[in-house]
Amino acid sequence: MIREVDIIHTNPFARKIEYIEDSKSIGYLEYSLIYDRMEIDNFMVLEEYRNKGIGTKLLAHLISLAINYRVINITLEVRVSNEVAISLYKKFGFREVALRKYYYGDEDGILMEKQVM
Ligand SMILES: CC(C)(COP(=O)(O)OP(=O)(O)OC[C@H]1O[C@@H](n2cnc3c(N)ncnc32)[C@H](O)[C@@H]1OP(=O)(O)O)[C@@H](O)C(=O)NCCC(=O)NCCS
Repeated sequence: MIREVDIIHTNPFARKIEYIEDSKSIGYLEYSLIYDRMEIDNFMVLEEYRNKGIGTKLLAHLISLAINYRVINITLEVRVSNEVAISLYKKFGFREVALRKYYYGDEDGILMEKQVM
């Protein structure tokens, strides 16, 4: 089951979707919906539940929300070494648009974008 949460107390644009199994949150995706743009801020599945398709379900749900909200694009930054996340994003049509030097301090980040509209 996927639950949608608004995180309005800290940032009016911030929202979250959570993957719930047996009343327990085992993964989440935090994103900002800024008018007609969407940005993925955090995306995580508990280690013991990885590689079971939960990240795929969360991303698919986010993209369906993006279509409903008629957003133009979804962007995110990912560590250059994060092959799992990069391949998952590419599966959903995200492409690498820029390299952000030392974005994580110790490592470069890749800016990825998916065109929705
Ligand atoms: C990224 C993350 C959310 C993915 O969640 P998940 O539930 O494991 O994702 P899924 O099971 O849907 O998909 C994982 C995919 O990675 C693939 N994969 C697994 N290990 C891999 C590896 N070493 N290299 C490349 N791909 C790999 C799997 O085969 C699967 O692809 P497929 O659907 O084509 O078979 C999870 O790994 C995570 O929490 N990582 C730590 C936090 C993180 O890096 N977040 C992203 C920040 S940008």
